[in-house]
Amino acid sequence: MKAKEFSRPFIGIKTYAYAVLFHEKSDHSVIIKITNPVLQYSADVAAYQDFHHVFSNIIKILGAGYTVQKLDILALKKFRGKASADYLSQKYNEAFTGREYRDITTYLTITRNVKRTTFFTYDEKDFKNFERNVAKVVDVLQNRNFQPVPLKEKEIISLLNRFVAFNFSDEVYSFNNFSASEESIKIGNRTVKSISLVDIDEINFPATIKPHTDLNLGYSLPVDLMHFLHAIPGTNCIAYNQTIQIPDQRLELAKLAAKRKKHTSMPDPANDLAVADIDRVMTDIARDNQLLVFGHYNIILSAPDQVIDRATNYLESSLFSFGIIPSKQATNQLELFRAAIPGNQEELKHYDKFQTTTDAAICLLFKESLLQDEASEFQILFSDRQGIPVAIDTSDLPIHTQRMNNRNKFVLGPSGTGKSFFMNHMIRQYALQDTDIILVDTGHSYSGLCQYYGGRYITYSEEKPITMNPFRIVREEFNEEKREFLKSLIGLLWKGAAGAVNQIEDSVISSVISAYYEDFYAQQREARYLSFQSFYDFSISKIAEITEKETIEFDLKSYRFILKKFCLAGEYGAILNNEMDSSLFDDRFIVFEIDAIKEHKILFPLTTIIIMDVFLQKMRHKKNRKALIIEEAWKAIASPLMAGYILYVYKTVRKFWGEAVVVTQELDDIIGNAVVKNSIINNSDTICLLDQTKFKDNFSEIANLLALNEVEQNKIFTINNLDNHEGRGRFKEVYIKRGARGEVYGVEVSLHEYLTFTTERKEKEAVALYLQQYPSYQEALDRFVQDFRQSGLKLNDFTNLINRQYHEKVFLPA
Ligand SMILES: Nc1ncnc2c1ncn2[C@@H]1O[C@H](COP(=O)(O)OP(=O)(O)OP(=O)(O)O)[C@@H](O)[C@H]1O
Ligand SMILES: [Mg+2]
Repeated sequence: MKAKEFSRPFIGIKTYAYAVLFHEKSDHSVIIKITNPVLQYSADVAAYQDFHHVFSNIIKILGAGYTVQKLDILALKKFRGKASADYLSQKYNEAFTGREYRDITTYLTITRNVKRTTFFTYDEKDFKNFERNVAKVVDVLQNRNFQPVPLKEKEIISLLNRFVAFNFSDEVYSFNNFSASEESIKIGNRTVKSISLVDIDEINFPATIKPHTDLNLGYSLPVDLMHFLHAIPGTNCIAYNQTIQIPDQRLELAKLAAKRKKHTSMPDPANDLAVADIDRVMTDIARDNQLLVFGHYNIILSAPDQVIDRATNYLESSLFSFGIIPSKQATNQLELFRAAIPGNQEELKHYDKFQTTTDAAICLLFKESLLQDEASEFQILFSDRQGIPVAIDTSDLPIHTQRMNNRNKFVLGPSGTGKSFFMNHMIRQYALQDTDIILVDTGHSYSGLCQYYGGRYITYSEEKPITMNPFRIVREEFNEEKREFLKSLIGLLWKGAAGAVNQIEDSVISSVISAYYEDFYAQQREARYLSFQSFYDFSISKIAEITEKETIEFDLKSYRFILKKFCLAGEYGAILNNEMDSSLFDDRFIVFEIDAIKEHKILFPLTTIIIMDVFLQKMRHKKNRKALIIEEAWKAIASPLMAGYILYVYKTVRKFWGEAVVVTQELDDIIGNAVVKNSIINNSDTICLLDQTKFKDNFSEIANLLALNEVEQNKIFTINNLDNHEGRGRFKEVYIKRGARGEVYGVEVSLHEYLTFTTERKEKEAVALYLQQYPSYQEALDRFVQDFRQSGLKLNDFTNLINRQYHEKVFLPA
């Protein structure tokens, strides 16, 4: 092996409109950091085509005498979480810290190729033109969401240094010994190997290449042609050098014509093929206004010595699978490496590039990016598709950017797909960021989280029902909306949730409510007069008076009889006459667990309404963010009678920095239900879907209801359907659509959070046993995890053991 001095081919950087890197052979370049705009697994074929058009445009803008190099660097990095004072957040960070992931950075280098003369002469006009062209390209990139950032001098130096050290992973790095052999380059203890994509010995114009390829998941999911780059095993860095040089078109066309002539003059099958190829290219150029270009595509792998062969084999077979046979010429390793240095494409040898059309050349460009953290003050962490925490703002940023108009959410997924777990994960982070939470649940899915936050857990019971006095309001509160609410409430009590109030009844009740308050103010009664009881008494005589005067039909008998149950002496006397527990205003985290009445036709909807009203009152009084989460209980109020009220709630919530979240598994209840569609779904700009496989047969109805186009549907079917489980804990995925577009995230948490969120009965019981024994939540969980890890058992076996031990202790005589 001969050690080579690594000489740098540049004479300097000078800053004009952009920082310009000057090559010793007089080429000059601007380097622009960009972000690939196509989100991996976004299922959006159009996005790949858009990318294609942008580059096609860029090449046309630049024209002959330019080289475009796209350099995508996929560096292996280790995730580092931010330390947190909150116990569960810290556990979350610890669970992910150290996890390896690939980070993609992309540089686009635009080089003006200067014809070599013996003496370098500065051509001002040409240079100005170069700057103008770069500006145009930056504009195009900006408009098409590539987030271009032209590098400044320091950044260029740093990039070149990193490239030569070939280290894009570590913050601090050093220049190690650099030596090149025929097979590879050694940098320190790593081997760096170039694999050039197209064998120029077998020039072929790829005839069937597309801007993307399809992954078969039972349906076609568009992915990058080079999607396998992420998966190359053992590598610490992968750089994909994509170089397109634009030569003088007339010259190249003339050469091609001459070549054609030569082939036609010698009849032989191979020649016929070559002629056909050339003809095809000529047609493309004539018809689509394409250019003839030279392309060079080289993948540089860096890995420890022992694994470089494995990585190379993996890459070669991946390339082969879509018909590309990498170059067998491994002997020019140093040349290939040097030719990848931004601004140094001048060094590319003629045998490393092949002639093709712009379209074919662009197809081979890498187009994808990964999810990025959203810059915001309010960040909720999920996992990206490779299992790395990524922060998104589910609440404020999308409102500011007008991606959505409200914060309300609709969560749908079959039983057991992880809706409650997902909500637990999200609410935990909401609660940490100054949000008041009210939850209505029917299955104890939030007891762990409530306990962790020291929240209020209110379980409905006959003895101690949830109470409120909806009639007790101050004068300013008596408005159109309050009257609507009271009207719905009376209607509900009288007719039941599924019933209907006719027009006469509606207007009679409405006038009675107004009259009740007018009378109250006129008589200057004391506030405590206001209650269901006094309203009932007042209404009976008022209705009689109205119906007599107007001679209208009104079933006063049934009204009187049915509503009597809610009077003080009646069966449900406490519910609407006792004041609400005012301490509920101060509690930051409240769970109403109403499982006990979920079959009750009156109490279930009534209680749900009471809770919603508690929330609304709280909203008006508190300045911070608030969230109301309703699990299956929403069904109780999704009736035409309540439609107006639900709309009112949704509208009010938006005005007071709040959000309403409805969580459901019931497909039949939502499809074809006008109330759900018009009040809940139409007012929820965020749709969260868990695994929809079970709903597959009905999916077109769901798609219709939730306005999911084909691209979004394809994304949704990737939920839990990718091969991305290696090296990760147990997790499930969720699709979150904010406004028109959605993304899929992983809901992946630490073991400590898992134990807090789980809804598996046995697991909850075992955790509860620890919670009884230890003074604090934290201590109990620490001990649980410690014992569990020491046991060496699977979680299921361990929880069984804990529960069994406990029962034995209880049931066996001491
Ligand atoms: N993201 C996740 N990571 C790990 N385990 C999960 C995850 N989501 C769900 N699970 C497991 O699946 C179980 C069921 O999840 P969950 O209770 O959230 O389902 P659900 O959709 O709310 O069901 P239901 O409609 O019956 O309420 C959880 O107890 C947990 O064990
Ligand atoms: Mg649930």
